[in-house]
Amino acid sequence: MPGETILIADDSAEIRDALADYLKSLGYRVQVAADGRKATALIDSHPFDLVITDMQMPFADGLGVLQAAKHRDADMPVIILTGHPTVESAIGALHEGAYSYLLKPVESLDELGFVVEKALAHRHLTLENRRLMEELRVINSSLAQRVAQQTEQLREAYERLKSLDQMKAQFVSVSSHELRTPLAQMFITADLVQAQLDRGSVMVAKQYLAELVAQGQRLQRLIDNLLDFSAMDRNEFELEKGECGLIEVVRATLDLWRLRIDKKRLQLSVQLPERDIVLTADMARLQHALGQLLDNAIKFTPTGGRMAVGVAGPTPPPWTQPLPSAFAVVAVMDSGPGIPFDKQQAIFQAFTQMDMSDSRRFGGLGMGLAIASRIVLAHGGRLTLKSDPGKGSTFAMWLPMRSGTAPLSRPR
Ligand SMILES: Nc1ncnc2c1ncn2[C@@H]1O[C@H](COP(=O)(O)OP(=O)(O)O)[C@@H](O)[C@H]1O
Ligand SMILES: [Mg+2]
Repeated sequence: MPGETILIADDSAEIRDALADYLKSLGYRVQVAADGRKATALIDSHPFDLVITDMQMPFADGLGVLQAAKHRDADMPVIILTGHPTVESAIGALHEGAYSYLLKPVESLDELGFVVEKALAHRHLTLENRRLMEELRVINSSLAQRVAQQTEQLREAYERLKSLDQMKAQFVSVSSHELRTPLAQMFITADLVQAQLDRGSVMVAKQYLAELVAQGQRLQRLIDNLLDFSAMDRNEFELEKGECGLIEVVRATLDLWRLRIDKKRLQLSVQLPERDIVLTADMARLQHALGQLLDNAIKFTPTGGRMAVGVAGPTPPPWTQPLPSAFAVVAVMDSGPGIPFDKQQAIFQAFTQMDMSDSRRFGGLGMGLAIASRIVLAHGGRLTLKSDPGKGSTFAMWLPMRSGTAPLSRPR
């Protein structure tokens, strides 16, 4: 292809000039060297597309030039010029990687032009081939990467599906009872409303209606918990962190449950620190977690029993491995039945309750502790349990205080 650069190495000026003139006339760019040493030096410093070299020259022969060319670029075609006495060594050069040889004196310049053109076309094809192979290799490896990636994604999806499947089985067994009971109650209450209206007792009907709404709200809480938990289980929840005073967390949550505490005539004591402990945390979620602990304490403690809620910190956590932060603790104690040692781990799993029988006395889906512990974990903390069976339970949320320095506190 015209425009390509060719080196001609020959110690005969006559041949050099004749070949150079001819190849230039075909549009090639040409450089010349009068001996082997100059030729190899040129090859080292220029990226030639083709080399034509005489076999016998001073300083370095055609084989030396051939080696220099192949060393520089294995795809650089080399054409050997040779007189009759050195035909054999020219053939040897072919074995060394020369593209072709031409006999001197070169009688047909057109033949030379033809060989040059063919050699360059061959070089092009080789380079193009190499480029395509490289492209193919890149495509292949990225394909292999994609396949590996997708296999991994598939495996993860499968694992998720498997654990969802287990959860589904547990959920179906527990929830069929837990969701249908309040719903059945609501239908009964709705019938009562209807009956009172038929009788014209609007006031009583209104009372039943309020009860109906309360039952609906309980059902809604169950369903909300369920959705919340499933989002957490898929790691699809984000904490909305802000300045979060633990005294406010306790007070606001207790306000929601005070009615039930009073209804069961539970003696409640609240122990708050002199100075509030302020964390960077998701206030609403911490209230939700604390709410689950209060719900349990109220639910499982017999009428007239005792309950305590306390906040403290900074305080060392009860586990042994050193953690880089001071901890605040929010604890809920009760004088309820306590939890047998062999159940103390399992109850933190979703849909797990101590009493899994159909006739169980306490409602609930068994998700409260699973949700609470996920919320605390998401804050970098832990939910712990200490319980003496028969005497009561203490659930504690351990929350890291702002890392490093002294705890942030503000006056109450
Ligand atoms: N304060 C407590 N006293 C006794 N048992 C408790 C207490 N808190 C939790 N449990 C046990 O742990 C189980 C799981 O609690 P939880 O996850 O909140 O689910 P649920 O309240 O829906 O049963 C309860 O069913 C109960 O057996
Ligand atoms: Mg509960």
